[in-house]
Amino acid sequence: MKTRIQSYLPGDHPWQNHIYWFETIDSTNTRAKEMAANGAPHGTVLIADRQTGGRGRMGRSFHSPAGCGIYLSVILRPECAAEKLMHLTCATAVAAADGIENASGLRPGIKWTNDLVVERKKLGGILTELSLKSNAMVDYAIVGIGINCTQDAGDFPEDIRSIATSLQLSTQKKPDRAFIIANILISLCDMCKDLQSPSKLLPRYRADCITIGQEISVVRGEEIRHGKALDIDDAGGLIVVFSDGHRETVSSGEVSIRGMYGYA
Ligand code: BTN
Repeated sequence: MKTRIQSYLPGDHPWQNHIYWFETIDSTNTRAKEMAANGAPHGTVLIADRQTGGRGRMGRSFHSPAGCGIYLSVILRPECAAEKLMHLTCATAVAAADGIENASGLRPGIKWTNDLVVERKKLGGILTELSLKSNAMVDYAIVGIGINCTQDAGDFPEDIRSIATSLQLSTQKKPDRAFIIANILISLCDMCKDLQSPSKLLPRYRADCITIGQEISVVRGEEIRHGKALDIDDAGGLIVVFSDGHRETVSSGEVSIRGMYGYA
């Protein structure tokens, strides 16, 4: 698999010789954090055929069966303060959508903040994690991407079956995981050039974000509030007007959202 991925990358791609392939791993994000803490360079790529402890946002798990998906993490070392990277998850979602589109012709939408969706079902998700130096500058960022590729509806665990989809279900074609991974790596590497210019990246996120204009529920712990998503601010926060007229920007660390009538 690793050699096939490399064969689809341009020979001089800067990440070409920093790719690690694992048959089974707990979580590519967790292992990437360990490697980054031990000095692995910018552009180190970890890919697994199977994860036993795939993680999602807000402590959720990401179902990662063998041979069915793309489970990928990249170590980035942008030289900036953490506050300059508030849009990193949004930028990564757009880069993942670019890679999927270039490889398969299908462009997923994005459900704020980090879900890739097709026809209002979840195709995959993004998990970004930052580590800071003592001076509040970024030491490293891990961008993790999970994409369902070859599952049939019955392959998903029952609790997510009605809201999950795969590339194969959506396109009726068997996806070539190595080709999609290579295209995502190319898009991610391109994104890094503009990473400190959110004004370039966020308009693209807004264009892909299916949440804008939707009636939504904002869930914070036990509390559920209803409103309408208006826009995304320059830090990737969701601007919501609630049913009492109150307007607020919610940030992804605190809340999750649901469509008024289901997942998206
Ligand atoms: C989410 O759905 O909230 C995000 C899912 C992110 C899953 C990917 S798979 C590769 C990387 N390793 C992990 O443990 N998680 C991310």
